[in-house]
Amino acid sequence: MIDEETNALMTRTGPGTPMGELYRRYWIPALLDWELPERDCPPVRVKLLGEKLIAFRDTDGRLGLIDEFCAHRGVSLWFGRNEECGLRCAYHGWKYDVNGNCVDLPSESEESGMRQRIKLKSYPCVEAGGVIWAYMGPPEHKPPLPGFEWVGLPPSHRVITKRWQESNYLQAVEGGIDSSHVSFLHRGDMATDPFHKNTGGSRMVVKATKTLFDILDSPGGMIIGARRDAEPGKYYWRITQFIMPWYTLIPPYANNALNGHAWVPMDDENCMAWTMTFHPTAPIPEKDVELLKDGHGVHAELIPGTFRPVANRANDYLIDRAKQKSGRHYNGVRGLAIQDASVQESIGVIADRSLENLVSTDNAIIMARQRLLKAAKTVQEGGRAPGLEPQDQLIRSASFVLPVDADFKQHALDAVKYRKGEPHIAV
Ligand code: FES
Ligand SMILES: [Fe+2]
Repeated sequence: MIDEETNALMTRTGPGTPMGELYRRYWIPALLDWELPERDCPPVRVKLLGEKLIAFRDTDGRLGLIDEFCAHRGVSLWFGRNEECGLRCAYHGWKYDVNGNCVDLPSESEESGMRQRIKLKSYPCVEAGGVIWAYMGPPEHKPPLPGFEWVGLPPSHRVITKRWQESNYLQAVEGGIDSSHVSFLHRGDMATDPFHKNTGGSRMVVKATKTLFDILDSPGGMIIGARRDAEPGKYYWRITQFIMPWYTLIPPYANNALNGHAWVPMDDENCMAWTMTFHPTAPIPEKDVELLKDGHGVHAELIPGTFRPVANRANDYLIDRAKQKSGRHYNGVRGLAIQDASVQESIGVIADRSLENLVSTDNAIIMARQRLLKAAKTVQEGGRAPGLEPQDQLIRSASFVLPVDADFKQHALDAVKYRKGEPHIAV
């Protein structure tokens, strides 16, 4: 449990807040690359850390992420005309380039000097790994480009989707590192989901619901070991990665692709749940891509043309009580991603952590909170945010079975190593 004051501090991410300042030190996943498919394509609204922004790709192919609202009288540039190297407001024609400079102000003479004084805020963007990333922090602290394994793989080896979650980001992050819930919330899908069934892991997590945690610090976050009983004399270990500031990597199931999430605050009441499915050594088959988009694995089925899941808060996640009763879906909701969304959103838009009763299986959550608070303090005191080095991010999740007397730490540190061109370690 944390007190109300700390809870407020941890869940607010707007400009000038301690967590907001911390998160502005990282490259932030802002858009999927296909959202801006070509030069002069329609602009796209983006909400990040409480800031309403507009993204566009200009005539020269340069990416812009600027204030959504025109400096003249505040009209949304979403209606703007993306033409001749700039976004022109549809109301009176003021035009902005990718750096937010006003490059045309048709109603004033150039001599008035008005145009030169107008500038919208703008943030640098880069394209890497199928994602358009934004940097919203002080220019002098801009970190190296993200080094996650999926960023460096060929596009054929990864599937990235995102879904809008109607809750604060922190309870979503906490869900991502909460290894113990798999044995309950997702148990009905372990034997049926095409990306989980028929694996040693899916069988063991259903069989043994009691979880014991062994958590190691890593330079960029935490290596979270969750132990369950396997066959006599053996433990089944699942290693989740928490990578600063909001990335999680799910322990893999056999040779199926790895999965990771980024839980990115849109504002304090909404977050974007990014899902990255990637295989270190093989392309993702087209039929699997279709299954993922249909809400299998840890992806969600989306309302076409939006990032809102088909099953969402407004329709009670299409809960099916008969399937809950039969055990087909443990909480009656279809698909692992929406199962997570449904329980996390049900806590309330911003979880009141002063009401919790935490137990030993929540240790990773407690430690992640401490880690985030410490990082925010470090930045406030002028220090460097942790986990910015690409090598800190180039790390895998893993799952394995070990004899009960084996050295977990040694095995874990070896299993999570990135091995170029070699498959991940999983059962
Ligand atoms: S409000 Fe944009 S040009 Fe007037
Ligand atoms: Fe989950």
